[in-house]
Amino acid sequence: MAAPSCFPKRVRLVDVGPRDGLQNEKGVVPTDVKVALIEALADAGVPSIEATSFVSPKWVPQMADAADVMARIRRRPGVTYAVLTPNMKGFEGALVAKADEVVVFGAASEAFSQKNINCSIAESIERFRPVTRAALDAGVRVRGAISCCLGCPYEGEVKPEAVGYVARLMHDIGVQHVGVADTIGVGTPGATQRAMEAALAVYPVAEVSGHFHDTYGMALANVYASLELGIATFDASVAGLGGCPYAKGATGNVATEDVVYLLHGLGIETGIDLTRLRAAGRFISDHLGRATNSRVARALDAKDAALAPVST
Ligand code: HMG
Ligand code: MG
Repeated sequence: MAAPSCFPKRVRLVDVGPRDGLQNEKGVVPTDVKVALIEALADAGVPSIEATSFVSPKWVPQMADAADVMARIRRRPGVTYAVLTPNMKGFEGALVAKADEVVVFGAASEAFSQKNINCSIAESIERFRPVTRAALDAGVRVRGAISCCLGCPYEGEVKPEAVGYVARLMHDIGVQHVGVADTIGVGTPGATQRAMEAALAVYPVAEVSGHFHDTYGMALANVYASLELGIATFDASVAGLGGCPYAKGATGNVATEDVVYLLHGLGIETGIDLTRLRAAGRFISDHLGRATNSRVARALDAKDAALAPVST
């Protein structure tokens, strides 16, 4: 069935698995495995990959090899390799690493801002200001992520006005794109649309994206609700990896495989080869020693197994 006419014809997916996914693993994933995962995602046609974070290794030891990861990946032309940069120290690392895009990450809740990046919302903007200026001067694109747009693990309800407020602050310092994040996966479609509308009051539709953790199983419904508003960029995580070390109990992002299946089913192009994407998901799930969180990958794996010739 074709998608309603208000839906985008093409969607850009950002795979955040190597960053959002692997930052949350108890054990540190070897650099070689991270590099192989990033390359497998690029080979599957993923147009943008959040590769790592230039954050404090004391805060997030899992990302301590950021420079090595960036130095070792074989870059595929046309693919955007993005990294998280909370401050100028992080940006300096990103610049040396030749990241194509940097992500400044704030929050719509004061308590989460303190827990995640150790400062208030206002202070975070003062840290992002020089990062944004330096990135734009260097020709590096700047994306903003706003955590807790649909609820906060410490403060509970978060109003759309709080999302609009942080989006405005980011816009005014020159951040080019804003991601509306449901960090703890509590949002439902109506609330998602209200949060999106708050961001859309500040940014054009092409510069707003959705980032949905799937804790309550609502993430695909929230993607669909965002498509209804014309949103055409989503973060997702291969095999549904992910979480945030400062949002206990929050599970992974919506699985990229599941979003691709939804979008292709709606006749929306992504440029991603689902078979190759599943292979990337299988690779990292095997390494982590657990089953994929992607429902689509599980279903297609079971179908393939049923069709496989029985060996005698
Ligand atoms: P701080 O302790 O306030 O920083 O942390 P500071 O400026 O006072 O510096 C303290 C020490 O950290 C110093 O080292 C600095 O050099 C070092 P020392 O002198 O003690 O040896 N430092 C750094 N080292 C490496 N890279 C840096 C850096 N900055 C300072 N960039 C800071 C503030 C922001 C650094 C810290 O809180 C931090 O790193 N937080 C990161 C938290 C994080 O990565 N969270 C997960 C990602 S966000 C997320 O998952 C949400 C998202 O997916 C959307 C959603 O789902 O909501 C994006
Ligand atoms: Mg996240």
